[in-house]
Amino acid sequence: MLTERNYIMLPSASSTNTLLKEKILSSGAAVYDVLCAERQTAGRGRLGRTFFSPRGGIYFSAAYPIGGNEKNIPFFTLLAGIAVSRAIFELTNEETQIKWPNDIYLHNKKLCGILTELVAQNGRTHIICGVGINAGVTKEEIPPELADKMTSFAAQGLAVPNKEALIKRCVENLDALVYEQKLLNETSPAVTAELDEKSFLRGKTVIYNGQKGTAGSINTDGSINIRFAKKTERIFTGEILF
Ligand code: BTN
Repeated sequence: MLTERNYIMLPSASSTNTLLKEKILSSGAAVYDVLCAERQTAGRGRLGRTFFSPRGGIYFSAAYPIGGNEKNIPFFTLLAGIAVSRAIFELTNEETQIKWPNDIYLHNKKLCGILTELVAQNGRTHIICGVGINAGVTKEEIPPELADKMTSFAAQGLAVPNKEALIKRCVENLDALVYEQKLLNETSPAVTAELDEKSFLRGKTVIYNGQKGTAGSINTDGSINIRFAKKTERIFTGEILF
């Protein structure tokens, strides 16, 4: 259990995920660090995309050492989604949805993205969990090409929660799911039910690899069920359009 997290706020970073990976490669002690930045100059998203990271957003990364024998490593990103969604509710009273596998939606637009990566150091593997929340980015600051898809607390006319408090609750919630509930090895029916309840895609008509289907439940192995015309498939990777 990582009881002693060390929160570090930087005025600017290329990418907190990249910086934390580099730190872990040079010092084992960095595993306790939660690297936070006021802005990122090279924020990264899933599938090699860039992540728009101006001042006003909340950007942070934390490490989770793993033994390698954990049964549910692909479930980690969804656990992070639950941790962030719970933290947002705790601080703002706003219900958010988790869009499989790594986005958090507020009022049908993306509020937050999560990027999980692996780094190995001295035979030890760490999951690097990076979270970007579009907190105080105003409507006017959102680039036109993202305006249909992206939102923020400020753009929704909501009060922006205290940055440090929100980061701390996200990390504490995720630490509890990983280290207290041990959900990389065990399954929790309550957490699975919460995921279904928060799932943005559930019941929606979606497109996966050019095929139309209906999104179903998320499984404890981190996959999502999609019912296509002829059969239901478990989807592990890639992007689901809706
Ligand atoms: C996505 O939308 O595909 C995931 C975005 C993840 C963004 C966060 S911000 C903190 C951390 N540093 C990065 O470069 N990316 C993650």
